[in-house]
Amino acid sequence: MNILGIESSCDETACAVVKDGREVLANVVYTQIKLHQPWGGVVPEIASRAHVEKISGVIAEAVRELEAKTGKGLESVDAVAVTYGPGLASSLLVGLAAAKGLALALGKPLIGVNHIEAHLHTPFLCELGDTPCPAPEDLSPALGLAVSGGHTTWIEMPTYGEYAIIGQTLDDAAGEAFDKAAKLLGLGYPGGPVIDRVAKEYFAGLGGAKPDLIAFPKGRPRAGVSALAGLDADYCTSFSGLKTALLNYVNKTYGAGADRVIPAADLPRIVASYQEAIVAVLADRTARALKRRAYKALIVGGGVSLNGRLRAKLGEVAAAAGVPLLLAKPKFCGDNAAMIAGLAHYRRNLVGDAALATDVNPTLQPGD
Ligand code: KG4
Ligand code: ZN
Repeated sequence: MNILGIESSCDETACAVVKDGREVLANVVYTQIKLHQPWGGVVPEIASRAHVEKISGVIAEAVRELEAKTGKGLESVDAVAVTYGPGLASSLLVGLAAAKGLALALGKPLIGVNHIEAHLHTPFLCELGDTPCPAPEDLSPALGLAVSGGHTTWIEMPTYGEYAIIGQTLDDAAGEAFDKAAKLLGLGYPGGPVIDRVAKEYFAGLGGAKPDLIAFPKGRPRAGVSALAGLDADYCTSFSGLKTALLNYVNKTYGAGADRVIPAADLPRIVASYQEAIVAVLADRTARALKRRAYKALIVGGGVSLNGRLRAKLGEVAAAAGVPLLLAKPKFCGDNAAMIAGLAHYRRNLVGDAALATDVNPTLQPGD
């Protein structure tokens, strides 16, 4: 079964075709990063207007890729899938409207997909020539960690397609913590990739010597605080204190005025220390969550899962728990539509007329 997926929840306009939930036949992503860079973050109105401009071309290109690979075009598409939340309302609307139109024109069912759940499908996506990726239904129960610009959530998947949040960040997402630090340090947007690279160079430059890291707080919320909303503090994080600690450190060390200069030579140590605090807390929460029950896999998805140090640390955590770690190929870590088309094969909670009648849901939760 071939499903064509459409994704437009934030600043990527994407379309893909996936066979039987795992084999990616076409995958096109137009990223708007350059449009948002001058503003240091995603501007919703710029994002939705760019989706309107690009979506038809992105769909057409995905269909061309499908034809080139299989010799067949839209006639071989059995269903259309689309992200209907969470995300920016005005961006989601563009993809949903396009998907409704396409499904109606093709006379094929429409399937609504949750963006966070879809990030956790990315380790199961493979392309022609890859070693076959595992089948998700063989790996239940699994623990999922979705780490992106908007979300940091630990999710238990008792069977594949069932989702229960067991922990989350109480404020900023991990990606947001990277992006805000990069903005403060003048490193540009998005912050994750540049912090990852600069920290890697810092550690490599030590030549095996012990790093002299700044002790930034490892955001572990206190038990009983109301923001936990009933979740166990052991599986939750908070990154707002870390961000403030970085600001305080910079103000104290280099001055708080607008003319402040942070010497370029100091940046790698600051950046590496900051990244270490984020990675340490993500690894610690994951290690605790893995003790809840006998999971068959740790599944990690989202843009932040590209982070080299996080990948390594989660590898250690999974090995200590005796559980396989499933990470996506780098091209499927950030936002894409292959994850939407792939998950739609397995998860059908919003299909057909119900999907055609649905609105976007910017605050959709895993398991909704
Ligand atoms: O999943 P994603 O593409 O979009 C959302 O759904 O939010 O994630 C984007 C986030 C950004 O905050 C970006 O800074 C972060 O992923 N990111 C990284 C890395 N590459 C992207 N964070 C840490 N290290 C990276 N290498
Ligand atoms: Zn995402």
